[in-house]
Amino acid sequence: MAAIVVSLATSLTAAVAPSSSSFLFFTKLKSAPCLRFTFSVSPFGSYGRRGGGKLMAHSLARATLGLTQPANIDVPKISFSAKEIDVAEWKGDILAVGVTEKDMAKDDSKKFENALLKNLDAKLDGHLSEASSEEDFTGKPGQSLVLRLPGLGSKRIGLIGLGQSATNTYTFRNFGEAIAAAAKTAQASKIGIALASTGSVSNESKLNTASAIASGTVLGTYEDNRYKSDFRKPVLESVDILGLGTGPELEKKLKYAEDVSSAVIFGKELVNSPANVLTPAVLAEEASKIASTYSDVLSANILTAEQCKELKMGSYLGVAAASANPPHFIHLCYKPSSGPVKAKLALVGKGLTFDSGGYNIKTGPGCSIELMKFDMGGSAAVLGAAKAIGKVKPPGVEVHFIVAACENMISGTGMRPGDIITASNGKTIEVNNTDAEGRLTLADALVYACNQGAEKIIDLATLTGACVVALGPSIAGVFTPSDELANEVFAAAEASGEKLWRMPLEESYWESMKSGVADMVNTGGRQGGAITAALFLKQFVDEKVQWMHIDMAGPVWNEKKRTATGFGIQTLVEWVQQHSS
Ligand code: BES
Ligand code: MN
Ligand code: ZN
Repeated sequence: MAAIVVSLATSLTAAVAPSSSSFLFFTKLKSAPCLRFTFSVSPFGSYGRRGGGKLMAHSLARATLGLTQPANIDVPKISFSAKEIDVAEWKGDILAVGVTEKDMAKDDSKKFENALLKNLDAKLDGHLSEASSEEDFTGKPGQSLVLRLPGLGSKRIGLIGLGQSATNTYTFRNFGEAIAAAAKTAQASKIGIALASTGSVSNESKLNTASAIASGTVLGTYEDNRYKSDFRKPVLESVDILGLGTGPELEKKLKYAEDVSSAVIFGKELVNSPANVLTPAVLAEEASKIASTYSDVLSANILTAEQCKELKMGSYLGVAAASANPPHFIHLCYKPSSGPVKAKLALVGKGLTFDSGGYNIKTGPGCSIELMKFDMGGSAAVLGAAKAIGKVKPPGVEVHFIVAACENMISGTGMRPGDIITASNGKTIEVNNTDAEGRLTLADALVYACNQGAEKIIDLATLTGACVVALGPSIAGVFTPSDELANEVFAAAEASGEKLWRMPLEESYWESMKSGVADMVNTGGRQGGAITAALFLKQFVDEKVQWMHIDMAGPVWNEKKRTATGFGIQTLVEWVQQHSS
């Protein structure tokens, strides 16, 4: 036993700096009831990370509640190549062809008019046109038809519906996901992908199409099995993209898609992790790991509660006050290793590792308290973006990644409804509802972002149920006074295939946010709840800074698949790339 403690003490010094806290660990270690669970490794060692996880300060101090530790599962890498060959000759498990409703047009003798389909059908003795008619496959989105037929190089032929026309990233991302689903069903390890018609597609859009299909395939294949003891491993190994060109430019684009997709998977894993595993300390540790992996361009500064107090972050600390898991304020800074910086950007993410509502506890059906681990979806988007940016290393741009991470809990030390708290810009807030906590944490994070000299700030937050009521589960609400920033971000979202909708920042609604005793209250009435939340945030942003708030309470989670989406990461990375020079 003594030997174990000594060897751990050595690794402790590497993981934990202050001597006073390592003394604390020692006493805890000796009295720990079960050593096996006391020394846990990092939960997020699975994707694109070197080696296993490191010992973490938090999990050393206390065993995870429930004794759960995620398994360190390697996400198998799928290799992509672009080829220009006759699809009928291509050899593999499934040849998946994307077809629009137009491509499915047939002539009088019930044969395909589309050249590629006609060629395949001829080699398949007409079985393809026959089966598609019989099974009523018309090319509608979501339709797929996989047949095991002799006559081609490929074992199976699959038709995947693209809808009326296939022009945007969103469609091709879904195409990739549908292919991944078909590959899973057939247990395919090698697939080929082609489009029935590519004739009119420009070279640039061929690149974008190929990369959207690739990331759809990667993300569709991925399953988060870290907390399961029984699951089937994905078997897909290689994907050939046929007929969309070849060469270094396309390969670069596919590599970029792969880097961003792995960041999206990282973001999904953060959100899927339950609050007993992903505490604010663990989130901060994950952020530090990103910085040390890309230490040539990223640095990390994690502020303790004490340091936040010195910065007068009363609003953020008020939210954190009830929790036994202390808050961690995360700041990563990206600077290119050489060359001038032309734009200074900041990404701020809501990082509530759990939102119970506080004294205004979430009760009743539909309040979704059991899903409130996803209330750090904004921070997952920001840290996922940091990971991708660290990897891609865009020149000419400085980016700050900021998360005021904490938990909204209930205890004798917690904030009461009616309390007045003071944010770091000196503004006072009467907390008329402890469940409107995200905006309180973002207030101090936005003040901090402005103090970093950021010219443009985007914050992302699972901020209001009202936004989900307004826009439903798959569209995020965008609030900004800046048309310029709106144009930039909508262009980025178009390229990434994520759905955003601009909402009004109606100043007259501020009336409902006035307090009799403080500068403002933190919630208005039930009406326009997403708008009043955005107006609240605006109080904490310098007027000379271009600022956008994205309410992603809907799209953070996929209800049907019961999993996180990784929403926001791809758009953020695109936006940063726009500012790169
Ligand atoms: N995290 C929630 C918002 C939320 C609710 C996200 C449901 C996803 C699904 C946020 O902290 C919250 O509780 N907001 C309140 C605000 C209200 C008290 C003004 C809400 O939306 O009910
Ligand atoms: Mn809340
Ligand atoms: Zn919340």
